[in-house]
Order: sequence, then C-alpha cells, then structure tokens
Amino acid sequence: MEKNKLLELVSEMTLEEKAMQMTQLVPDMLYHLAPANLTGPTRQWHFTDRQLQCAGSVLGKSGAAYLKKLQADYLKDARLPIPLLFMADVIHGYETILPIPLAQGCSFDPELVEENAAAVAREAAAAGLHVTFSPMADLVRDPRWGRVMESCGEDPYLNGQMAAATVRGYQGKDPGEKGKIAACVKHFAAYGQPEGGRDYNTVDMSRGMLRDFYLPAYREAVQAGAAMVMTSFNTVERVPSTCSRLLLDRILRREWDFQGVVISDYSAVEELMNHSVAADALEAGEKSLHAGMDIEMMSGVYAASLQNLLEQGRITQEEIDTCVIRILELKNRLGLFENPCKDADEEQEQRLCGCKEHLELARKLALESMVLLKNEDVLPVSAHAPLGLAGPFADTGGLFGEWSYMGNREKTRTLREALEAVYGTQLVTAMTEPFRQSPDVPDSVEEALERFRPCELCIVAAGEPEWQTGEATSKTNLRLSPNQEKLIHALRNAGKKVVLLLFSGRPLDIAPILDAADAVLQVWFPGSAGAYAVTDILTGKYNPSGRLSMSFPRNVGQIPVYYDCYNTGRPSLDPENRFCSRYLDCPNSPLFPFGYGLSYTTFSCRGLKISEDNTTASVLVKNTGSRRGETVVQLYVRDVSASVVRPLKELKGFRRIALDAGEETEVTFRITADMLSFYNEDEQWGWEPGEFDIMVGLDSEQIEGQRVYLSPADLP
Ligand code: BGC
Repeated sequence: MEKNKLLELVSEMTLEEKAMQMTQLVPDMLYHLAPANLTGPTRQWHFTDRQLQCAGSVLGKSGAAYLKKLQADYLKDARLPIPLLFMADVIHGYETILPIPLAQGCSFDPELVEENAAAVAREAAAAGLHVTFSPMADLVRDPRWGRVMESCGEDPYLNGQMAAATVRGYQGKDPGEKGKIAACVKHFAAYGQPEGGRDYNTVDMSRGMLRDFYLPAYREAVQAGAAMVMTSFNTVERVPSTCSRLLLDRILRREWDFQGVVISDYSAVEELMNHSVAADALEAGEKSLHAGMDIEMMSGVYAASLQNLLEQGRITQEEIDTCVIRILELKNRLGLFENPCKDADEEQEQRLCGCKEHLELARKLALESMVLLKNEDVLPVSAHAPLGLAGPFADTGGLFGEWSYMGNREKTRTLREALEAVYGTQLVTAMTEPFRQSPDVPDSVEEALERFRPCELCIVAAGEPEWQTGEATSKTNLRLSPNQEKLIHALRNAGKKVVLLLFSGRPLDIAPILDAADAVLQVWFPGSAGAYAVTDILTGKYNPSGRLSMSFPRNVGQIPVYYDCYNTGRPSLDPENRFCSRYLDCPNSPLFPFGYGLSYTTFSCRGLKISEDNTTASVLVKNTGSRRGETVVQLYVRDVSASVVRPLKELKGFRRIALDAGEETEVTFRITADMLSFYNEDEQWGWEPGEFDIMVGLDSEQIEGQRVYLSPADLP
C-alpha cells in the first residue's frame, strides 16, 4: 500500500480504533473465551465487543489453519480493512527446537545461528506467524536468574553478533518476503541484571555500565534491521523501561534512529502503577505514550485512557497517530494489506515443520554449542564393553528447556534410543526416570549400582528440570539435586569412570561433584536433535568445539563472576595480602572462564605479532594433537589508562577455525577504532589514544598479549 493511502486510512480511524491498534491481546479474547495462563497483574478486563472487534494484534497462538480462520473472522466484521498482526514467542525454534540461546552463544558461529534462524522463520511463517519475540539480547552475568538461558551470555560483543545474526536469519532482506518473519528484540533494556538474580527485580547501574555493556547487543539487533523492540519489566535509572524517555526516545529513536514498532512486555504498562510511577491508568498511559511506546501488551490502559487524556490535553492526536502509523507501516511492510495471512499454508506447514533439513541444521548447532569442560582420558567412548546410562535426561524427549511450545517431546529421540543404536545390548540403563513434579530421581542408587556392576564406565545424564529455566525461575541453589549428586559419588566410589552430561539452562554449581566425574560435557538444553548430537560427541564422531558463553561460578556466593571486570584499586595479585579485593574462602577466578572449552585434540596459539602500522594482530594457531578439530581464536583488548576505568579485557573479535592434526595456520584480526571505543563521562562515544593491550588466545584466561601505543594516526 502506498504511504498516502496508509495515511488516508489513519485519517478514517476513530480514536477507539487507534487505541485498539495500540493494544495486543490473546486471540481467545476476540472469541470471547476466558483467556488461559495469564501472568502479571491482569485484572478484570473491560474491553467492549466493539473494542475487541478492532484489536490490532494478538499473541501466543500459531498454526496456519487457526490463524487463517482468525484473520478471516476478524476481517469479516472489521469496519476498516486493517488485518491483525500475529506474534508469538518463537525463541529457539518453532517445531524444530534449537539449542537454547545460551548454548547457541557457545558455538561462536553467527553464520550457523543465522542459517538456523532462517529455518525457524520458514516454519513459523508457514504456521501463520508474522512476528517473533526474539532475539533476547539481554546481557547476563547472574546464573541465579532463570532467563540467562534466553541470552547468548555475558559478553556484549558475542551477544551483539548473535542477536544480529538471528535478526538477519528471521528477516532476510525484508520480513515481507516469503518464509520470513519480523524480529522483535527484547527486553529493552538491561533486564538481565536484576538485583540478586530475582526475576522482575530492580535494575540499577551507572550510565556508563549501561552504555558500554548492556546496550550494545540491542543496538546490533536494531542495526541489523529488527522491525520491533520490546521494553523490559524493570527500571533503569529509577524509571521503568516501558515509560523511559531516556531509553525509548533519546537512545532508541534518536541516537539509533529506530523507525520500527515498540511494544511493552506483558502487562508492563499497567505495572507502572505497581512501580509507583503512575498514580492511575491515565498517568500510566500518558507516560508510556510520551516515551513513544506504540503497542501495549496484555493490559488495557491505552484502550481505557487515550480518550480522556486527549480531552484533558495531556497528550496530542499527533502522538497517537505517530504510533498508529508505525504499526500500520509494519503491517504494510509484511504485505498484510494485500495478503492478510502472509505465508500461512497448511501444506507448507506440514512439510517444513520438523523436516529433515531443519533437524540436520539444529543438530549441527547442537554439536557446536556443547562444551567439553573436563576430560581425563575417557572420551570419546570407544570401548565395546558394557556401558552404563543413568539420570533424569537419559530417556526423555524433554531436551528442550523452556520457550519451546511447539516442540514435540514425544517425537524427539531420547539419549537411550540414540546410544542404543550405536552400542546395542552393551548399553545398561538404571535410574532413568525423568523429572516429574519433584526435581529428583527416585532413590534407588543401590539398585543402579547393582545393575552397573559389569560396566566400567557410566554416563550420567544429569541437570536441572526444564521447567526450572526461563521466566520466573530464579534460584538461590544451583547445585544438582541431592540424589543426582549422590548417584555420581556412589558410582565414583564404586570405582566406575563417570561421564557427566549436564543439561541446564544456566551455569550450575558443579564444584561439589567435579572431582567425582572423569569427564563433563555441558550440553545445555540441546533441542530436537540433542540426543543425536550428544551421541556423536560421546562416540567421537564429532570432536567437541563449543566455548563457554558464560563463566561457571565456583559457588553461588561468588556470583556475579564474569571475565570483563574492572581492575579495582586493590587487585588481588598477592595471595598473602588480605587487604585487596578478594574473598577469604574462595578465589576470584571462575571455575571455568568465558571462552573456555576442551577438544579431543589440543591447540596452541602463539607468536602474537602486531603489524608495524598497528592495524592488525596475528597469531599462529596449531593443532598439536592427533585428530582434526575446531577451535575458536579470540581477540581481547584492554585500554591501559583512560578517563574512566576500562575492563581488564574485552572480547572484540573471534574466529572459529578447523585444523587437521599437526596443521598450523595464521589468524589475523584487524584492529579498529571501534574496538577501543567507549562512552566517556560526557556520554560521548570514542577512543582515547594511549597504551592498549592487544591479546589473542583460546579462552579469556589463556591469552598472550602485547602492549602498543596507538595514536589517531594509527587508527583514523
Ligand atoms: C516475557 C516476554 C514474552 C512475553 C510474551 C513475557 O512474560 O517477559 O519475553 O515475549 O511474555 O509471551
């Protein structure tokens, strides 16, 4: 539709119609059904039939047949020909479930993430969806927060690369194209840093911290073209994001030139009253509108208050129209005026959802995202001797983690099935009961030991229940359940070799069982192809190559522990010195650092060379072991002295490379001004000439650095 036609349409709309374009509900409400599974302070709904008839968008339902009918029913009664927008949480896969985003971060492979996101878009588009509430670009440093699973981890650069790749995968060149959907980056901003790791809790940090660490990944997603942005539940600088003019107007719209649609999180406009920044619905609506919040998700504040606010002169018609135009422009961009159901097609849906090609892509991503944390000569398992398999993830299709509504657990191959296909009757199982209500396996350790008597090696598929990951799943205890720990110790005490597979949505507290395991493979929630991927790694068909996207703490008291911290005035360099920044009972370093991961081969990375003109850094990377493998070469920088404190190191580049046994290659990174830049005290972005450490290595601790003096002449 031509822009002037669109504007004409807006001029024909009543205020009520405009307010309802700015309101998102669940489809059940349009059918006058009682909505199920409501969260947040959703109280009495006061939508009239006429209002429901002109709702602008709905969330949470998919399926070509259902959405086609919904659109047809809606348009049949609509006064104006404005189709509904269909949105849903397709977070890590539609029917083909991918590894959780935290695991995807461990792949350090944005191209593969993009390819997978494109496959997700094909499935979701065929199932009738127009927008997904993904990617989540929230930076995370606190594994007590259950939503770390939805993020690509603790590093701004990695997070940004992954968020941008995901947006490109979903949207392609244009979300209106066939098989594409629009991306909604969330939760703007800083939702990943709630105090104490408690979901929905207060977020408070300096402007510099916000700008340097927390905002960059959203910006990357916006610059990659994300059509929508979702606000977060939390406050930033004492103002809830949903009505923050700093975030929505100054930063998002003006600095980043975001032209798309902003949506609130679930009932977040109404929650402004709980936050105590709005005395009533009128004030909540007024503040959100002034900030430029276009669509209110699942509360009725706009619907109830815009008329009044306008009459009282507290808002203008222009402010409302600006939001409505943005919303209609999105519908137009998706081609909905011409084709209200876009790609919804039962046949395509049937053909694409869960197809072999998508499962294969998901398997590749699962393989690259698993991280080998420890291996004392037990993996890969090649022996043809009896092999034990136990644990709550040993025989379940529940390998998805949260936010995987359309994934089919019944159809998903279990680890037992996948291993049996390789080891046949050599596989002995015990204690494979999946988690039910209680997060524990039944107390039958003695019986398991008896069954495992002939096995020299036992695989324990342990972890946290799927339902303890995602929204509203904060925890203060990150250890495995007592029975799982008991089983691992019992196997060890019985002289077995123990291979621990860790299924989790967050770094768990594994220090108490680390010594009892000979090998530990962090598999996260690996998705639909998870069992195949684990089997490929256990058997050695695939050589593990994932690198941690988030540090593992030594214990919960050490949280937050992350690699890109500041030095402090009293760094802990001398173990004898008490008066420095340290704990009495625990080192400062993590159990496993960001960027860490083992392989079945070994690599060296040496000979760092900075070019004479200071524009490149090169290293020689060699496969020093006896089999082919992949590693991730990582570039870090440190500004040695600046006008504000700068982190000890910050990831600024990475390269995933494959090398044959004995093969050596040179890896070169360009040094750019962008890599050295930060926000100074006046909130100006730029870099300050002086000394910098340029460091390259194979994880955030194993790095070799060189100090260079960089002047504007080096990096114009
Ligand atoms: C979550 C969002 C999600 C929305 C819609 C909220 O509770 O915070 O991430 O997109 O619900 O389901």
